Amino acid sequence: MNYKKLKKKLKKAVSPYDFQAIKAQYAAQYNIRLKEKEDIAGIKRTAMLALDILNHVEERIKPGITTNDINTMVEELTRKNNARSAPLNYQGFPKSVCTSVNNVICHGIPDETVLKDGDIVNVDVTPIVNGYYADVSKTFFVGTPGKDAQKIVAVARECLSRGVRQAIPGNTIGDIGYAIQRYAEGQGCSVVREYVGHGVGFDFHEPPQVPHFGKKNQGLTLVPGMVFTIEPMINLGKHNLHVLPDHWTVVTDDGSLSAQFEHTVLVTDEGFEILTPYD
Ligand code: MF3
Ligand code: CO
Ligand code: CO
Repeated sequence: MNYKKLKKKLKKAVSPYDFQAIKAQYAAQYNIRLKEKEDIAGIKRTAMLALDILNHVEERIKPGITTNDINTMVEELTRKNNARSAPLNYQGFPKSVCTSVNNVICHGIPDETVLKDGDIVNVDVTPIVNGYYADVSKTFFVGTPGKDAQKIVAVARECLSRGVRQAIPGNTIGDIGYAIQRYAEGQGCSVVREYVGHGVGFDFHEPPQVPHFGKKNQGLTLVPGMVFTIEPMINLGKHNLHVLPDHWTVVTDDGSLSAQFEHTVLVTDEGFEILTPYD
């Protein structure tokens, strides 16, 4: 690790080599719960189930299925593994998974909507195993994608990758957002502001918030043991959005396509580890 860089950003009395001291500082100052070895093992176990579920769905995505069919798949696999789905009844959310189609940015509610050739659909799963949470999502093509679908999915995927590479000790939350925003806007796309990544592991949404836009060197400093999501929502058009009357479904104002990829990421001594590795 770059202990020198980290040292400069910690409180005077706190050594960059002293995990317990940093843990106490982050709890007191930010309400952030750094994860110990055994916690990380638990989160990884959940993450493996999350990936199994996502792969299972991916293999079955095709024109003609409904988003409710996806919900059923997620429910069955979750139950078979003696796990629970975090979204179910979360602040009143009625289903076990979010399915966000085309211009839906996030929090799409599974229903009788039939997926058709050329659609894109983000599937966002968050199981709970032994009290540990892991959060992962991917945007899938339904059948054969058109040019716009290919573009927004490629840009969103690359945004996640660039964000994750900034998640190293001594860097800041702002470094992550900056890398994502710079790439997305450079490609003529836009970054959603209202919804952000988040700490995860002991709970669905923990501090800190992880915006997908920002400035270099701003926000809190990343330290080993932090576990959070990076989940950029990228629009082909403008970033403006609104929520539908169902109080959940978030859509682009201009009707443009929106894509998202999400990982649960651990900051390690040496850099980062993706706890939900895919591709
Ligand atoms: N999984 C989403 C996230 O990435 C949160 C969904 S909240 C729900 O943070 F209630 F819609 F499930
Ligand atoms: Co999340
Ligand atoms: Co999620």
